[in-house]
Parts: sequence; C-alpha cells; structure tokens
Amino acid sequence: METRYTSNRRRIRANEHIRELVANVYVNHRDFIQPLFVDESVQERTPMASLNEIAADTIASVLDQIALDLEQGISKFLLFPVPLHKSNTDFDFGFVIKALQAIKKKFGNQVWIAADTCLCAYTQHGHCGLLNETQTAVLNHESVTVLAQYALALAKAGADCIAPSDMMDGRIAAIRNALDENGFDHIAIMSYSAKFSSQFYGPFRDACKSSPGNNPILKDRKTYQFSAYNAQDGLLSTIRDIEEGADLVMVKPALPYLDIIQTIKQETKFPLVAYHVSGEYQSLELLASQGLVERSQAHLEIWTSLKRAGADCIISYAARHAKDWIATIKI
Ligand code: PBG
Repeated sequence: METRYTSNRRRIRANEHIRELVANVYVNHRDFIQPLFVDESVQERTPMASLNEIAADTIASVLDQIALDLEQGISKFLLFPVPLHKSNTDFDFGFVIKALQAIKKKFGNQVWIAADTCLCAYTQHGHCGLLNETQTAVLNHESVTVLAQYALALAKAGADCIAPSDMMDGRIAAIRNALDENGFDHIAIMSYSAKFSSQFYGPFRDACKSSPGNNPILKDRKTYQFSAYNAQDGLLSTIRDIEEGADLVMVKPALPYLDIIQTIKQETKFPLVAYHVSGEYQSLELLASQGLVERSQAHLEIWTSLKRAGADCIISYAARHAKDWIATIKI
C-alpha cells in the first residue's frame, strides 16, 4: 500500500466521543493494591512528611483506614511493618503479627492482605538480610532461612499473600516449602521478582527507617537488587522465581522499567504487578503541589502506561483515589 503522508489521523481525535470509541486501554480500581504502614513507635496516625497523604498508622488507626478504603472500593493491601526495636540477629515479629491478626479479626475475607516480607525494617544496619561478621556482605543462605520462618509466621497470623522484597536468591523456593510443609499451600506468593536498585525508594526508606546508608562498605543494595544497566536480569530472574513457585511477579519501580514490564508479560504471560514506588508517587505529588501537573490526570496517565505495557495490577500510594479519579478521566 502506498503510504499517504497526508492521511488524516486527527479525525479519530476530533472530540471526546470518538476518542472514547477508539480508546482501548483502561485502568480499573479493582486492579489496585494500597500500601499501608503500621508503625510501632507512633501513638496515633501520623502523616509522613516525605509521602503526601500517607501516614504511619497504629494498629487501631490502620483498622479505621482500611474501613475507609473499603468504602472507596479498595480491598487489596500491602502491609509494611515498622517495628520499634531493631537488631542484627534476633528479630521480634510480634508487632506485625498482632497487626495482621487484628486486621483479619475485624475484616476477615473482605480484605486481601499481602505482607511485605523483608528484614530491612528490622535490622540496625538497614539491609534486607543478615550481614557477615565483618559487616561487609549480605549472607544469602542465612537470610533465606530467617525469611522463610518470617513468611510462615505471617501466614499463620492471617496474611493472604507473602510478598518477599529482600532479593536473596532461592527465597521463593524456601518460602514455598515452608508454607507447603505447614499446611499453608493455599497462601500465594507475590514475588518482587524484578526489583531494581533505585533512587526512587527514598521516601519509603524514610517511612520505614530502613536506609542502609550508614555502613561504609555496603552503602546501598546493589549486591542484591538489580542494575538498571542490565537489560536481561529482570526477565531471567523473574523466570527463575516462577520456576521456584511465585504466583504473581512484579516489576519495581514502574515507570523507568516499562520495557521490563512489557518483556516479562510477553515472555511469561504470568500475572504481573507494577509497583509505582514511593519516589515516583512523591514526584507527581510535588509537581501537583506546585500546580505543574493536574494531580489525578497525571496519576491516571502513568497508571494507564503501566497497563499498556502489560501490567495486570498496580501498587500505588494513591490506590484509594483510583475509583474517584477514574470516574473523572479525561480521554
Ligand atoms: C523493602 C522494600 C522497599 C520497598 C518495598 N519494600 C525499599 C527498599 O528496597 O529499599 C520500596 C517501596 C517504595 O519505595 O515505595 N525491601
């Protein structure tokens, strides 16, 4: 066919009616997961300076928050605990267990709770696993052993899904085994299967007091999180996690890794979660606060890009606005 450079493409953009007719990518609030923080050190719901509208909750206040979120059509949550006491060897998981039990007691199967499974909020050094004696390396096997015990404790407390974000090798298999051997074979694993070492976790680390910056040798998480400069690791590690037993896989952060989302979806067809992380969220919030973007339309535009790339669902700090905002979408 001869290319007609003068062909009129603008006819399909002429007004909102025809734009709606030709639109073929939509977000739906049912696809959203809302992160929640329960912080043992706060006495009441405490807004976070670095994450607009997001608060550190007590166990009591997180129950109120979930009740409000349910009214907004949000029933899926990702729970992050911020324990009061940190240690490098002995971890007390009691606080998050109490939180999960309280949530499940009040809401039962009205809610679906994925429990983030990582040690970074528990360790004094802020790394996601155990360190060797000289504090120069993250120990893989020893960390996986603790993470599998932690996952089992979370499942026993009522978590519907285990979400390991630590990035040790072999943790999916170890967690799957621990769950299966103890009667929790029905509990899903949402693997942070393609989690990149990123600048965009800053506000989250502030929230969880989990920055690894004080260690002179291991200043960052580059020995376990993926490199932005490697284009294959995301897919290969995700395939590995699927083989080990992951039920849902994830790409995180979202926007700088749209290509990874697309490749993983095309290659694996697996249920795929995109995590629009704290720094991505907060950059939009800051732009919106300056009047430089329109808040809801900016979030909607990015959420839609994640869907277009191949994400089935989205973790967003603004998930609880999804239903209202989608109703106002300007196509
Ligand atoms: C813990 C964890 C992190 C996030 C989720 N789980 C931070 C990190 O790896 O430092 C980031 C979430 C966000 O930035 O929104 N390992």
